[in-house]
Amino acid sequence: MIEMGNLKEALNFICSFDFWRMALFWNIALLFSYFQLLKRRIFGSKSSSSSSSNHSWNSSHRPICVITGATSGLGKATAFALSRKGFYVVLVGRSSHLLSKTLKEIKKQNEDAQLKAFEVDMSSFQSVLKFRNSLEQWLLESGLHSSIQLLMNNAGILATSSRPTVEGFDRMIATNYIGAFSLTKLLLPFLKNSPVPSRVVNVTSFTHRSAFAARFDKDSVTGMYSSGSKQYPCARIYEYSKLCLLLFSYELHRQLRLTDDSHHVSVVAVDPGAVKTNIMHELPSYIQIIAFYGLKIFRLMQSSEDAAELIIDAALAPPEVSDKYFFGGNGRTIESSGISRDPKLAKELWDTSCLIFNRLQQTHT
Ligand SMILES: NC(=O)c1ccc[n+]([C@@H]2O[C@H](COP(=O)([O-])OP(=O)(O)OC[C@H]3O[C@@H](n4cnc5c(N)ncnc54)[C@H](OP(=O)(O)O)[C@@H]3O)[C@@H](O)[C@H]2O)c1
Repeated sequence: MIEMGNLKEALNFICSFDFWRMALFWNIALLFSYFQLLKRRIFGSKSSSSSSSNHSWNSSHRPICVITGATSGLGKATAFALSRKGFYVVLVGRSSHLLSKTLKEIKKQNEDAQLKAFEVDMSSFQSVLKFRNSLEQWLLESGLHSSIQLLMNNAGILATSSRPTVEGFDRMIATNYIGAFSLTKLLLPFLKNSPVPSRVVNVTSFTHRSAFAARFDKDSVTGMYSSGSKQYPCARIYEYSKLCLLLFSYELHRQLRLTDDSHHVSVVAVDPGAVKTNIMHELPSYIQIIAFYGLKIFRLMQSSEDAAELIIDAALAPPEVSDKYFFGGNGRTIESSGISRDPKLAKELWDTSCLIFNRLQQTHT
C-alpha cells in the first residue's frame, strides 16, 4: 500500500532544485565518464590502463590498510576483498555495533583475516586525532612496524539536511572532505615510514563534474556559507565535497613529489560509478527506488562487490601509478573534470585546508 507520508515527501523532493540537479547533472556526469571510457577503448590509449601488481604477502609481514566507512557498502565490500588479498585491515567506523558485526562477518568468510576495528567519527577532528594516537599505540603494543601501507578515504554521506558538527562545519563536507584531509595529514608519517611503497586512495565520485564554479575560502570549505540557506543545497554540497577530495588528491601528489624524492607515497582517486549501497538512505524512499531501477535498466548500477574490485585495482596498481583517476574497472583511468585539474585551485584549497587543520590541531592539543 502506498504510504501517503512517503509519497508527499517524494513529491516535495521532486519539486526541489536538488532533485533536478541530481536527475539531470549527475546522470550526464556519469554518462560522460562512460563516454570517455568508450572513446579510450576505440582510440586505444595505452596509458589508460594499469593492471594491479601481483601482490603475494607473507602472512607474518602483512601490509596494513586503514579503511574508513568500513561498516557498509563499498567500504565493507573492500574490507572483505582486502582481507582476502592478505592485508591486515584496520576498519574505521562510527558505530561500535556495526564494527563488531562487520568483523564477525569477515572472520566467518575468512578465518585467516587479520582485523582491527576503531570507532571514529570522521566528521569530528577530535575523534580523528584520537584515532591517530590509538593507531600508533596499537601498532606499538602489537609489535607491528610503525607504518601503514594503504590509507583508503572512503567514508562519505549524502545528507539532505543541515546538521552542523561541534566545530560548526557542515556535516557532509566535514565527513567527505575535512575528515579525509585531516586523517591523511595525521597518518602521512606512517605512510612515509613504510618499508615498501605506500598509497593513499581517495574514493570520489563522477558527481564532481557538476561542480562548475567553486570557491575555496574558509567559509566555503567548511560549508559555513550554506548555513543560512532556506533550503539545504544537498546536491551542490555533495558534488563540492567530492571535487575537494579530488583536488586534494592531485595536490597531495604534487606536494609529495616536491618534498619526497623517493616518490614513496603515491596518491590515486577512484570513482566507483553508481553503486547499490546505503548512500541514498536520507532521500525519500520512492526516489531511492526510482533512482535504483532507472540506473539498473540502463545497466549503470553495480553491486558493491563489483565496485570493490575497481577500488582494489586502484589500491594495488603499481607504485609508480600516482595522480590518476580510476574509473570503469580493470585498472582503467580517465580524465576528471577540467576544474579538478586546475593546479591554482588545488593550491588554494590546500592552503585553506591546512589553515583549518592547523587551527583544529591547536584547539585540540
Ligand atoms: N554508492 C555510490 O553510488 C557511490 C558513487 C560514487 C562515490 N561513492 C562514494 O563511496 C563512498 C562509500 O559510500 P557507499 O556508497 O558505500 O555508502 P554507504 O553504504 O552509506 O557507506 C558509507 C560509509 O561511511 C560511513 N560513515 C558515514 N559517516 C561517517 C562518519 N561521520 N564517521 C565514520 N564513518 C562514517 C558509514 O557508516 P555507517 O555504516 O555507520 O552508516 C558507512 O560505513 C562514499 O565516499 C561515497 O561518496 C558512492
